[in-house]
Amino acid sequence: MNYYKDLSQEALIKRRDMLEEKLEIYKAQNLALNMSRGKPCTEQLEISNDMFQYMGKTDITQELDYRNYGLLDGTRAAKTLFANILEVDASEVIVGGNSSLILMYDTIIKAMLLGNNDSDKPWVKEKKVKFLCPSPGYDRHFSICESLGIEMITIGMNAYGPDMDEVERLVKEDSCIKGIWCVPKYSNPTGITYSDEVVDRLASMETAAKDFRIFWDNAYVIHHLYSEHDRLKNILAACKTYNHPNRAYLFASTSKVTFPGAGISCIAGSEANMDFIRSQMSVQTIGANKLNMAMHTDFLKDMDFVAEHMEEHAALIRPKFEIVYKAFDKCLGEKNIAIWNKPKGGYFINLDLMPGTAKAVDQLAKSLGLVLTPAGATFPYSKDPRDMNIRIAPTYPSLEELKLAMEVLCACIEYVCLNKILDND
Ligand SMILES: Cc1ncc(COP(=O)(O)O)c(C=O)c1O
Repeated sequence: MNYYKDLSQEALIKRRDMLEEKLEIYKAQNLALNMSRGKPCTEQLEISNDMFQYMGKTDITQELDYRNYGLLDGTRAAKTLFANILEVDASEVIVGGNSSLILMYDTIIKAMLLGNNDSDKPWVKEKKVKFLCPSPGYDRHFSICESLGIEMITIGMNAYGPDMDEVERLVKEDSCIKGIWCVPKYSNPTGITYSDEVVDRLASMETAAKDFRIFWDNAYVIHHLYSEHDRLKNILAACKTYNHPNRAYLFASTSKVTFPGAGISCIAGSEANMDFIRSQMSVQTIGANKLNMAMHTDFLKDMDFVAEHMEEHAALIRPKFEIVYKAFDKCLGEKNIAIWNKPKGGYFINLDLMPGTAKAVDQLAKSLGLVLTPAGATFPYSKDPRDMNIRIAPTYPSLEELKLAMEVLCACIEYVCLNKILDND
């Protein structure tokens, strides 16, 4: 607390009072600012509008009449698109509808009811089902577990990925641990990309459960913000190398490439895994929405086009990330009350505050009309053990709204932390 340490008690109180006045002014403005979810902004949606021109123009009889039933696991072109994105073979891909989250949920609920292709029995027949949850992590992963009664074990995250010593120790001794959630690239929310060593350790580790699975949610695989990209080792190839070919399910979608409301998604993995999933899907549906897949693959053309398109997204959202950094540097820099990251991609900035202040900051911001991702949401059961993590989602608000939102947020952070410092003195 160097900055504040140099100030007298009187000066601290004066600064707190000044902040209180500032907060009163914000309150009087009846603000309605929202930084709660990682949603693309309208300008980002506009850059995919050309996709509509392919509707009705695409060759809908390439493999079979796309208007009809059939092609349960997607069109050849859509499988190839995701195979290129995830660096796997097209035969290792199943293409789904607009949400990869539904594929994750489906995969887990089916394993609960029926087991997976390496299970001796349905997971619900085990005395308990547990998942490892590297945290801070993606709240909706944790909601899936919570809704299905899966016990979540919090695992710390560092700059290279999950705490692998802890992961290896736990999965080796506990056969109830059936899975681990991973957002391996530009992670939600910490922004880090797993190191090669972490990927190798996940692929090679000994697990007590022979039907253990890695849920490799590569939601931000091509979502770079700068020309220098993070590189992620191929988990499926690593699992094959270490003789655990069925260990990883990979997920991705075009939610933040085209439209979250009308994109396409995929699950990928070993051919044995995909065959098993296809056999279950054949009970669920008689065929995929191939017209949307065709519209996507006609629009997205090839990986060069995809890369250019992602650069257009980056050009729209990079300034927003930079507004956040600028505000934090200006208002919180050198105060030692918060640290934040500057990710090279993805949708989030991770903010860690003085322990014991995140919930109060969140509530204060809310009372002033600024909605954040609820404090705690980035941890299992919404319980941040140190009450210090806040996920910043800068993409949706306009530049002007974001500047104002950051002023309000910084004032809230400083006010809450200053009160804590004064209380501790
Ligand atoms: C890590 C992660 N996975 C999945 C999703 C949702 O993906 P989809 O739109 O494909 O369901 C998000 C959305 O924010 C996300 O951050």
